[in-house]
Amino acid sequence: MSIIRSQVLGCGAFLPETVLTNEELSARVDTSDEWIAARTGIRRRHVAAEGEKTSDLALKASRAALSRAGIGADELDLIVVATTTPDETFPATATRVQAELGMTRGAAFDVQAVCSGFIFALSVADNFIKAGQARTVLVIGAETMSRLLDWNDRTTCVLFGDGAGALVLHAGEGEGGIADRGVLNTKIFSDGRMHDLLYVDGGPSSTQTTGHLRMQGKEVFKHAVTNIAAAIEASAHDAGVTISDIDWFVPHQANQRILDGTARKLGIPPEKVISTVADQGNTSAASVPLALATAVNDGRIKQGDLVLLEAMGGGFTWGAALLRW
Ligand code: ACO
Repeated sequence: MSIIRSQVLGCGAFLPETVLTNEELSARVDTSDEWIAARTGIRRRHVAAEGEKTSDLALKASRAALSRAGIGADELDLIVVATTTPDETFPATATRVQAELGMTRGAAFDVQAVCSGFIFALSVADNFIKAGQARTVLVIGAETMSRLLDWNDRTTCVLFGDGAGALVLHAGEGEGGIADRGVLNTKIFSDGRMHDLLYVDGGPSSTQTTGHLRMQGKEVFKHAVTNIAAAIEASAHDAGVTISDIDWFVPHQANQRILDGTARKLGIPPEKVISTVADQGNTSAASVPLALATAVNDGRIKQGDLVLLEAMGGGFTWGAALLRW
């Protein structure tokens, strides 16, 4: 039986030019390279320049993805941007990207699921394609997390970075089995009771300010490995694959210790784990497509490989996706 599969045509990424090292951060707040590296694995992160917006990063990642895909923006039916740092409260950052790309038909909108945003956006795109409502979709994760940070709070400002990644998906055909190319499944979850563990203390309808990121890091850490592992097990079980079938594990890049803990819990060998956390920090919704683009560009992920994505973030939200590249 032939079914519709959302197949990847190309991916791209963009990181702002400015790099902020742990040493440079140590001059601003009471921290050290040793502390940050030992607790998180992070050594440096990219930070957007003054005036450089989330849509600017998204646009550059999108152009790279479209070029890789070998298609023009006029062939897109839909743009979904995952971001928690939109240019403006409205309209959606996706519509800005749409205009800049010169796409004058179809639709563009944002998805807000914080660090899990890219998995949620991928899920939305995959379902639009499977339902026959779109054939070609640009899925973007783009963030300027530096704008949400309290730069005097050492417990949060050392963790995050800016960047963007994008994926072009196109409706293809499959047999309905795990050998099919494309998205095999997506699993998304949320639990609003966990709000207070990770949130931004501002917004248009509460304080009329942008606010700053607030987090109970230890508590978030405790939930992360359990939630992520459960999403991965649900995804693998539903798709009918075993963990040993997976060629590449592309996790949300929150913290090297979370990556290692999840891989260990699931029995994924370290050489199959894509990690960019040392050079990029946690770029929220951008981290999964940035890591994907890194491993595709350096030749690790190849056509036909089985790739597992996962993320967890504020809300809480979390999820996983399996795709054959
Ligand atoms: N530099 C130096 N010391 C620091 C810093 C810093 N940047 N930040 C905190 N400390 C101090 C604390 O004040 C504390 O001091 P005290 O013992 O005198 O009170 C001590 O270091 C230990 O602090 P903890 O919070 O217990 O440190 P922990 O080992 O839990 O590490 C961290 C903190 C890195 C935030 C960790 O909890 C973590 O990574 N949590 C996950 C959070 C996360 O990834 N969030 C991202 C969004 S959600 C997601 O993406 C999964």
